[in-house]
Amino acid sequence: MDQTPLSRAIAYEKEHGDKITPEERPLFHLSPRTGWLNDPNGFSFYKGQYHLFYQYNPYNTVWGPMHWGHAVSSDLLHWEYLPCVMAPDEAYDIGGVFSGSAVTLDDGRQLLMYTGVTDDLFKRDSNPMQVQCVATGDGLTYTKYEGNPVIGVEDIPSGSDPRDFRDPKVWRREDGSFRAICANRSEDGSGQILLFESPDGFHWKRKKIFLKNENRYGLMWECPDFFTLDGRGVLLLSPMDMLPEGFEFHNGNGNVCFLGKYDDENETFEPDHVQAIDSGIDFYASQTMLAPDGRRIMIGWMQNPDGSSYRVTPRPWYGQMTVPREIFLKDGRLWQQPIRELMNLRKNEVIYKDVKVDNECRLEGVKGRTIDLTVRIRPEDAENPYHKFILRFAMNGEFYTQLSFRYKENVLKLDRKFSGSRRAVINQRRCLVKTRSEELKLRVILDRYSVEVFINDGEQAMTALLYTEMTADNIMFFSDGAAVIDVEKYDLMD
Ligand code: FRU
Repeated sequence: MDQTPLSRAIAYEKEHGDKITPEERPLFHLSPRTGWLNDPNGFSFYKGQYHLFYQYNPYNTVWGPMHWGHAVSSDLLHWEYLPCVMAPDEAYDIGGVFSGSAVTLDDGRQLLMYTGVTDDLFKRDSNPMQVQCVATGDGLTYTKYEGNPVIGVEDIPSGSDPRDFRDPKVWRREDGSFRAICANRSEDGSGQILLFESPDGFHWKRKKIFLKNENRYGLMWECPDFFTLDGRGVLLLSPMDMLPEGFEFHNGNGNVCFLGKYDDENETFEPDHVQAIDSGIDFYASQTMLAPDGRRIMIGWMQNPDGSSYRVTPRPWYGQMTVPREIFLKDGRLWQQPIRELMNLRKNEVIYKDVKVDNECRLEGVKGRTIDLTVRIRPEDAENPYHKFILRFAMNGEFYTQLSFRYKENVLKLDRKFSGSRRAVINQRRCLVKTRSEELKLRVILDRYSVEVFINDGEQAMTALLYTEMTADNIMFFSDGAAVIDVEKYDLMD
């Protein structure tokens, strides 16, 4: 039988992906079946399972012709690969099946909405436009709609750029109708969010410009997501080409959350608060879904596109998702915590209380590379507090990564300079801790190739990749001036 681009990808990923052993992958973070992964797509709960699709180049561990890979899970931590669902094989998406999202139709089918790139990006004189397309399926196989594209370049405001028009996030309103927001580059060269409406998911028209960047937060925006939480509007974005702003935003590709007033009747959004979603090194293109139990769960691509050459030894896969995170509003900000299902992976509890740290300290039983570690740190004497506290992990005689906290400045630094990185990518990032209190609480989630830090119960987060050899599994505490700590540590296991 003749191979199609999709059947070729499915045969290829089966042959090559099945050779990768579970030990070569992260324990509970989703990595591509084979090849390259970037953005999470179509994050949804459908037919009793969580579905996660992803930007996927099965043939190589670098970004290339974009397909949609597919995995399912019942707890968002153990993933089962399903066959690739879409390949670039139509005139309207031959340059790539770019990012998008998913909803369920009234007839029970799942609708995937994605961006098609209309020309081969690697050919000379390529003229790639970006259009929005849909496909329907049953959770296993999907068929592109014969009426694609469903939103064309003629549907963007005049003067806006049809080459930067992508990443539809689709949802349904209470009356059953459909809405989607897409990112687009406006006439001023920076991003805007367009809102589209449809009665059925197939016939779309532009409703309005939902928000304009006006060159404020980076230039082009990517991967928008909009929803309400506790009556507030929440817009998540991944801006390109950002300028730094204090400790909040850094140069290059970033991540931004707007909170504001959402008027459901007129479908208007007026942001009145802005913050970074994750203040670490590797977090981009986040997408959320509403779980059946009402939790809003966010997952991101655990990478920054600017740093995507960061790797140490070649692997048959590259790219991974963050741990899924429950997001919520508190004190006017967006907070996040790893999904509570992670607690089911906890084994071998080790607890220490009121340990004095003055200089170096190691604690029996506190080590490992797939762990859930909570440390509470306070000065022994609040009148005369410690200067700097260090938590060093993924450590052996040669390598380590560390978190250091300067009490007076209230600044937490994540530093992987000595983690084995051989690339000139960003290896350090600092974060101004929002709450000023005597005690700092850090929850550190380590998987084989990553660290995710949740600060003060999730008020802020810092995420970074870590390609340190697995034998580097020691943990050390250090304090310049006396500190007192409580430690709670679990191994994370299948
Ligand atoms: C973000 C992004 C999206 C695009 C996709 C292509 O990382 O650039 O805007 O749809 O990746 O892979």
